[in-house]
Amino acid sequence: MPLKECANFLDLDHSAINGPGEKYWLIGNSSPETGIPGFSAQIEPFDRWHPVNHILNLQKSRGKKK
Ligand code: HEM
Repeated sequence: MPLKECANFLDLDHSAINGPGEKYWLIGNSSPETGIPGFSAQIEPFDRWHPVNHILNLQKSRGKKK
């Protein structure tokens, strides 16, 4: 199956579908329905909060509401 594009994290309305804990969960566990790969083999559990925090910080400085 071809890879679908990852979510646009700067789209605050779309990204609000998943709270911080859900983003953390998706990074570790993948989501076959949407196509996001899981990164449990590459990123240790504690370190999965780093991309979550990065996304939230990007949204604070550059996120857009429709
Ligand atoms: C080959 C690389 C990747 C692919 C193909 C991919 C694909 C996807 C897809 C199809 C979605 C759903 C899109 C949507 O909701 O509009 C998604 C969502 C998401 N992806 Fe990825 N992704 C990739 C890499 C990553 C990486 C590296 C991270 C962070 C470590 C990440 C974090 C997330 C999160 C947190 C969501 C949930 C959407 C949100 O919270 O806004 N993805 N990804």
